Order: sequence, then C-alpha cells, then structure tokens
Amino acid sequence: MKSYKRSEELLERELKVSPLAAQTFSKSYRYFCRGEAPSFMERGEGCYIYDVDGNRFIDYMCALGPITVGYNDPMVNGAVIKQVGKFAAGSLQSECEALLAEKLCEIIPCAESVRFVKNGSDATTAAVRLARAYTGREAVLMSGYHGMNDWSIGASENNRGVPKAVCELTKNFRYNDLSDLEEKLREREVAAVILEPIQSNGPKDGYLEGVKSLAHKYGAVLIFDEVVSGFHYALGGAQEMFGVTPDLVAFGKGMANGYPISAVAGKRELLSQIEQGVFISTTFGGESVSMAAALATISILERPGFYDHINKIGKMMRDGIVRLIDKHRLGDVVSVSGLDAHSGLAFDGKGSLSYLDVQSVYSQTMIDRGVLVFALYFLNGSHTEKEAEVYLDATDEAFTNIRRALELDSVEPLLRGGKVDPVFKRNIK
Ligand SMILES: Cc1ncc(COP(=O)(O)O)c(C=O)c1O
Repeated sequence: MKSYKRSEELLERELKVSPLAAQTFSKSYRYFCRGEAPSFMERGEGCYIYDVDGNRFIDYMCALGPITVGYNDPMVNGAVIKQVGKFAAGSLQSECEALLAEKLCEIIPCAESVRFVKNGSDATTAAVRLARAYTGREAVLMSGYHGMNDWSIGASENNRGVPKAVCELTKNFRYNDLSDLEEKLREREVAAVILEPIQSNGPKDGYLEGVKSLAHKYGAVLIFDEVVSGFHYALGGAQEMFGVTPDLVAFGKGMANGYPISAVAGKRELLSQIEQGVFISTTFGGESVSMAAALATISILERPGFYDHINKIGKMMRDGIVRLIDKHRLGDVVSVSGLDAHSGLAFDGKGSLSYLDVQSVYSQTMIDRGVLVFALYFLNGSHTEKEAEVYLDATDEAFTNIRRALELDSVEPLLRGGKVDPVFKRNIK
C-alpha cells in the first residue's frame, strides 16, 4: 500500500492558512479519497508524476489541460532557461511576443490579430468585452464553462457573490440544439454567442456551422472558447478540426506546456478596438518566459504525427472503456463521453449508492494502481500504448470493485479512507 504521510502533513498545514489547500477547485483533496491519495506533487517527467512521499503515478490529469507535450520537456526547459537568463516581465516587450503573435496567426484559422493575457478566464472575458464594444449590446449567450469572471459564473448555479444585474445579462443555451439557440437569440439583442465547440461527444453534423449562421443572422459575434479544445485535438483547435471559423477565440491551458499564458485572437476589426481604448491590459500579459515556453511547445506540437499519436492512444483508451463497461454490465452507472483525445467517465448512483460513492470506488482503485485521473483523462505527447494498457487494466479492476459495491449495495467494505466530496456537487443521484 502506498503511504501519503508527507502529503497529509502538508495538507493539514496548508488547510490552516489556505482554503481547500489548492488554488484550483478541482485539484483539491476533496476530489480524491482523503488519506488514500496524494495531494502534493514533487516533480513530473513526461506523463509521470512523483508525489512528496515518493509515489509514482501515470498522470492523466495533465494539470487539467496545460501539459500537452509532457512534464520537464528538455526543449521547453531549454527555451525557458534561456529566457530566464534575460528577463521575465520587462519594461519593454520581448522578441518572443512578436514571434508568438505571428505564430498564432499562422496556425489558428480565425486569428488575424492576437492579445495575450494569463488565464483562460481573462481570455474569454476579453473576447466578450470586445464583442460588447463592437455590437454596442450587452447580453451574452453561453454554452459550457468559461471561467471565474462575473459575466459567466453569474449564469451558473455557482453564482454566489455576483451582482444580480450582472447575472441577468448572460443566459445559457443548450449544446447541439440550434432551435434553443435561435429561441434565445430572438428574445433580446445579443452581443456574443460563446461556446465550447467540443462538449459531450462533439458537435452534431452541421451544428457549429448552424451556430455561426444564427449568431450572424441576429447580429452577434461568435466566440469559440477553445481554452480546453485548443492544442489538444489539432494544432488549429476545434475550428480547424470542424472547418468552422469563429469571429473570436479564447485560448489558454495547453499553449505553453504548463506555463501561464492565454490569448484572445480573431478578426482584426474586433481586436483593433483595443487601439481605440477597449480596455484589455494586464501587467503580466507580455511576461516573456511563458512566451518562450509557448514557442517551444508549439514547435513540438507542429511536428508531423503529433496529433495522430494523441488520437491513436486516446482511441485505444476510449474503445477500451466502452468494452469494459460492457464486460462488467455497468451501463446504468458508468457512461463515457468525449472525443478520443480527451474523454472519460461519468458516474450515476444506483440502489443506496450515490454517484459519488461509485466515483469514490473508481478513484481509490485507480490511485491504488498508480493512475492519477479524475473522471475524464487528458493526454500529452509522451503517453504511449504502455501507459494506456496500465490505465485499462486499472479501469478493469475499478469496474470489478464497482460491480461488487453494487452487489453489496454499499461501498463501506471497499473504501479505506474518505469519499470523493467535491465542493460543487450534481443535484441528481
Ligand atoms: C472551457 C474553459 N474556458 C475557460 C476556462 C477558464 O480558464 P482559467 O481557469 O485558466 O481561468 C476553463 C477552465 O477550466 C475552461 O475549461
């Protein structure tokens, strides 16, 4: 059995001085079985991470998206170290900034112009502000998660602390349902339609084209939130993959293999409003170390076959999950969603077990087997068939344990520590 002694000590200490002891909700200890999972990471190497107790895991969380090439990549490290020797944030721009803006305009179909910020939330917020300034309208329609800022989190169920007046400006529309979008576009004048272009099992045929033409028919700017889809499925994002070019796009997460950088990009006439005072400006927007990391990362992502490899490994895993759900007759409590490159499981309850009971059995087993994964997996360029086989073997065992819990109608004989207890829970069982 693995020991998590040092992780627990640090967790106890940090909890006294920092809520959740993690700066991202879904990286906190509450997303794992307390006492039976690591909380603190010592280092990463390719697709492996080592925790502070010396345990090694295959990492299928990839920092929730940023790690696209693999941890501790020598080429990215080399570029970073070279730039660290010069400056990080400077009084003037770095050469990297000009080169990276050019590079994004070369590889992203909608990008004629680019503005850099830091988090995905900054990029989606900048895109929405540009759309509002351009159209002179205020309302926004969104589909997906777009970060922590008021305009978007206000329209979610987690909107405590957001003024009501702000909440009312944004409404959700249903993915893959054009008539729902059109109905909402008719209700009031909309500045922006923003969506994650890849959700659940991806867009139905013609859906993204339909969203684009409806947005334009009603005078709204179309924004793709590619903070997750960007750099994960294809170099040019979902817009390249599905051949639909939005007016604006937000990128973040995977651009620099873990270094903090994001960007809003798109039509020049929209971005050029910044020159007329539409306010998108941050102290660290031009921070050069992350830009050097982004240039090195993209040069690796550009290598022939990079995305074929990711998609091949992902297909092996997704197909394997589908087979295992069938083998263990778990179709009523475990489902799979996502495209090959980024996919995974959703859990439901049954009998007296809640979905979190089922997820806890899954999580404990995967961690026991040395696989760090949430419900969904992220892949980076260093995952191979070998790690995919370990993942599938562990999943086989996790499903055996879930079947057993269902038969016992209890998880108590199976769980050794706490249960998965996320801050945000689904209402359904
Ligand atoms: C689709 C999407 N957009 C925006 C964001 C916000 O990015 P960040 O957390 O970097 O602000 C996220 C974060 O998970 C995301 O998944």
